[in-house]
Amino acid sequence: MVNNEVCKLLGIKYPIFQGAMAWIANGNLAGHVSKDGGLGIIAGGGMPCDILRQEIRKAREITSNPIGVNLMLMMPDIENQINVCIEEKVPVVTTGAGNPGPHMEKLKAAGIKVIPVVASVALAKRMAKIGADAVIAEGMEGGGHIGTITTMALVPQVVEAVDIPVIAAGGIASGKQFLAALSLGACAVQVGTKFLVANECTVHENYKKMVLKAKDRSTVSTGNYTGHPVRVIENKFAKEILEMEKQGAPKEEIENMGVGKLRLAVVDGDIDNGSVMAGQVAAMVKEPSSTKEILESLMSELEEEKTKLIERMNSWN
Ligand SMILES: Cc1cc2nc3c(=O)[nH]c(=O)nc-3n(C[C@H](O)[C@H](O)[C@H](O)COP(=O)(O)O)c2cc1C
Repeated sequence: MVNNEVCKLLGIKYPIFQGAMAWIANGNLAGHVSKDGGLGIIAGGGMPCDILRQEIRKAREITSNPIGVNLMLMMPDIENQINVCIEEKVPVVTTGAGNPGPHMEKLKAAGIKVIPVVASVALAKRMAKIGADAVIAEGMEGGGHIGTITTMALVPQVVEAVDIPVIAAGGIASGKQFLAALSLGACAVQVGTKFLVANECTVHENYKKMVLKAKDRSTVSTGNYTGHPVRVIENKFAKEILEMEKQGAPKEEIENMGVGKLRLAVVDGDIDNGSVMAGQVAAMVKEPSSTKEILESLMSELEEEKTKLIERMNSWN
């Protein structure tokens, strides 16, 4: 185990979380990430309770190391999902889309570490106040639902504002970015896009190919107009949404257009009409690799970059 606050808090080897990815981050992906020393997180948002339980058990068949579950708090079945996490003795829950406040006592009483995803300083402060164990500060470079502040600007402000560990997310796919996140005051990183092309990730091959082909300007942020921005790789679907936003179409119509579109790309492989969520670092993801290779290369690159940085700074004297 790396001697690091987050590793010690959660009992993991490397300070790297595999970010939850709806329809994608299942028990297989999370299980392998946890087995290989990171924190694998099952995307529980919207999962029926029996499937959630099944995915947790699948992860457990792969490893006895800690695994996490991500819960979307506005989901109608949230109470039952929480009960599943408690019954299955899930040690870590990350939360999004809502306020974990009403559930905090129950989760903490069950010994579960609660780590909300935040996109602003105000929310981070609120989460620290209600007893969160750490927060994930997620910048707008990341894939999927995002806020409006970059990782570079958000992380140091959150670090200043709270006295719990901060995990940086959004735009991290290399040792350089990992080191930058630590320089900003984060104790660990959460990585999503890079895990999309992991051998253990069951997302459709077409989706993987689109990520592998992505360039620096391939992603766009849709939904700014409705107040729910989502970063996706630009395709026919994204262009249609952006056009509707430009035309000032009713917000409800735009929101409805997104329904079922991630599943369409992830499961059916329809990368023209589906939503291919990915972060700006998709351009840095060049080849498929195993979860083990992803984690180990991030750790070894981090060491190399640290040495290079020290050498570069020493040469200034
Ligand atoms: C396809 C996709 C789906 C995502 N779904 C979720 C989700 O269900 N819950 C969540 O908290 N974050 C979700 N995220 C965000 C990731 O957990 C992670 O924070 C983000 O991808 C990190 O930025 P990166 O893409 O630059 O690595 C998703 C990201 C992607 C790419």
